[in-house]
Amino acid sequence: MVDHVLSAEQDRAEALVTEKVLASFDDAPDPRLREVILSLVRHLHAFARDVRLTEEEWDAAIAFLTRVGHITDDRRQEFILLSDVLGLSMLTVGINQPLQGTATEATVFGPFFVDDAPLVPLGGNIASGAPGEPCWVEGTVTDLEGEAIPGARIEVWEADEDGFYDVQYDDDRTAGRAHLFSDESGTYRFWGVTPTPYPIPHDGPVGDLLKATGRSPWRASHLHFMVTAPGYRRLVTHIFVEGDPQLADDSVFGVKESLVKTFRRHPAGETAPDGRTPDIAWTHVRFDIVLPPAP
Ligand code: BEZ
Ligand code: FE
Repeated sequence: MVDHVLSAEQDRAEALVTEKVLASFDDAPDPRLREVILSLVRHLHAFARDVRLTEEEWDAAIAFLTRVGHITDDRRQEFILLSDVLGLSMLTVGINQPLQGTATEATVFGPFFVDDAPLVPLGGNIASGAPGEPCWVEGTVTDLEGEAIPGARIEVWEADEDGFYDVQYDDDRTAGRAHLFSDESGTYRFWGVTPTPYPIPHDGPVGDLLKATGRSPWRASHLHFMVTAPGYRRLVTHIFVEGDPQLADDSVFGVKESLVKTFRRHPAGETAPDGRTPDIAWTHVRFDIVLPPAP
């Protein structure tokens, strides 16, 4: 890092800009907005002074953010992707959903959730034709005391073995996503496909940023969950595949040790917990979900 020595006069002139901007928000009527914007200005100005931001760099930053805006539409949210690769999304999740006893940890939402995914019965298949190795997923939904939560709504969504979500195809298919409900004893089970690694969308400005900084766009293999039940905190999370080499280098910093699960492999012809005998190899994972009370 270059150490910049400023004259007292220059230092004072720069500080004065910050003071004037801060003072301009003195009459902001919403105290929370005022708190947030004052802190933002302080940090933004400190950043510019810290790196001695050049005018060319300021231009490049504006051009970059303009590209992020232009590529964003109903189907693609490049600002969230930017927040994801800068770790802001995970930091915000951590601030708002702090560790709470045995409660299942949360992670990033990601851009591929879709409302109104089909209902599948317990033991049904969420793949709906998504190609991939069959995976039997089962577990319980309980509260912090280990009591069953019946009727919890469990949304699941995942990419196929080619690394694409259904919404990334042009044919309006619905595959690799569904919702189901935990039963009276708080258990759930379904067939999906074994998660495989895939890159985040990297054909836009965020991809260029990753490339320019020598970072990988790949995500660790995962299966998304969103679990809701009246009276409990909403959980948005994923489970990750133990042994996946990508675990240590997830482009959006979403991996948490407690969410890494063993996906046990079974050869073709071995009978699954639901009594079926797949004619190809399959995997089996258990994910017990614990919800804390609603805040
Ligand atoms: C995903 O899980 O699919 C995802 C999450 C964050 C950014 C991009 C993709
Ligand atoms: Fe994903």
